[in-house]
Amino acid sequence: MTETSPSARLKTEPSLEALGTFPSDFRWGLATAAYQVEGAAFEGGRGPSIWDTFSHTPGLSLHGDTGDIACDHYHRWQADLDLLKNLGVTDYRLSVSWSRLQPSGHGELNEIAVAFYRDVLAGLAARGIRALVTLYHWDLPQPLEDAGGWPVRNTAYRFAEFATRTVTALGDLATDWLTLNEPWCSAFLGYGNGAHAPGRKDYRAAIHAAHHLNLGHGLAVAGIREVMPSASVGITNIVTDIVPATDSPDDAAAAVRLDASSNRVFLDPVYLGAYSDAVWDTLGPRGLSDVVQHGDLEIISAPTDFAGVNHYQRVIASHDATAPFGVAEKPAEPATTSFGWSVIPAALTAVLTRVSREFTSVPLYVTENGASYDDYVDPNGDVVDTERIAYLRGYLGAAADAIAAGVDLRGYYAWSFLDNFEWAEGYSKRFGLVWVDYRTQERIPKLSAHWYQRLITEHQEVV
Ligand code: NOJ
Repeated sequence: MTETSPSARLKTEPSLEALGTFPSDFRWGLATAAYQVEGAAFEGGRGPSIWDTFSHTPGLSLHGDTGDIACDHYHRWQADLDLLKNLGVTDYRLSVSWSRLQPSGHGELNEIAVAFYRDVLAGLAARGIRALVTLYHWDLPQPLEDAGGWPVRNTAYRFAEFATRTVTALGDLATDWLTLNEPWCSAFLGYGNGAHAPGRKDYRAAIHAAHHLNLGHGLAVAGIREVMPSASVGITNIVTDIVPATDSPDDAAAAVRLDASSNRVFLDPVYLGAYSDAVWDTLGPRGLSDVVQHGDLEIISAPTDFAGVNHYQRVIASHDATAPFGVAEKPAEPATTSFGWSVIPAALTAVLTRVSREFTSVPLYVTENGASYDDYVDPNGDVVDTERIAYLRGYLGAAADAIAAGVDLRGYYAWSFLDNFEWAEGYSKRFGLVWVDYRTQERIPKLSAHWYQRLITEHQEVV
């Protein structure tokens, strides 16, 4: 072993004990999403999704990057699953591509796609890795966008049909299902500021989309329960820690509006069965009251078995009459990632504690948390991402703090297994614990992957 080998470099890293205590059956996972890793965009009967259209439209994604090839995981999944096994993870979060499984957005599933996902899920089981499957990670079939997209109520019903058919086809191979990933992004980045597909800029449409995403979740839960009563079902929301810039009443009110329009509009209806006054005040006149129908909230609040929390940031909110919902936001200081996001581990403890105290008593999972840094392969062929190790150490310590404070947290999925297509930022942002050389498709576990592997092994030795 040379002094520069990963194990040698890790010698000085503090051990698991320094982070805190995790339950013996804690799930140590890594996460990806279909469009970000699969590639093979034109194979196996896959149809276009809104992300194909968006990324192929000049000027919308950085450098014109697309997910056409991405990490070529569609062809390399067996080696990727071997790598996951070598990294020692107990769990893997993946998503299925709606436009691969049901290209038209309705009706029978595409058998080639079903066979692909059955192979992947069986491959995970054969390697002793449990799967957590997300049904919608932003890749709406283009025909459904052409029919109006998420601002249209029918899309919620189409999603429930897709979810039910998919669980029927794959449910013998996976018990754990997430309906939606971060509906805030789908609604407000997709239809509000237009930074994400389909790139529409209409906040009224975004608010309509938010409600229909919530409705789609509730309808999907009901459909899944019917075809697979033993399934464990949840939804993943991004939960941002929001702090007012000053103690002025204006900034405090701005923080409430930001919380309403990013966190509460999704957490309230699912876990509390009603949109709170803060949500009605902020979004009611701007579109929410156009679309909420009698009975919707009962559907949306169908009990779930667990709650997924994606967490990335603490942001500072201040009053700004010119900004959407009258709120300007900026990342909290001091440290930042290559995305310019704040690194404040205590924010994770805060959001986990908040979700478990204010919203739900079901078990929680951190279904995503991670950071992009300007990683590079050094002359020894290693990727020494010490910043990411520090990040993960901080946030896992914060997760342990939440557990110590009584939060029923059952697992943590680092984002991401592989460097991948970071949406409108293309390939410029690397979140992986594993480096991907996009020219050769070589994978190099970064130092953080070795660190995570050691952490998981230590944990297994302790229990
Ligand atoms: C959340 C999304 O679910 C994921 O797709 C994305 O890559 C990460 N955030 C990082 O931005």
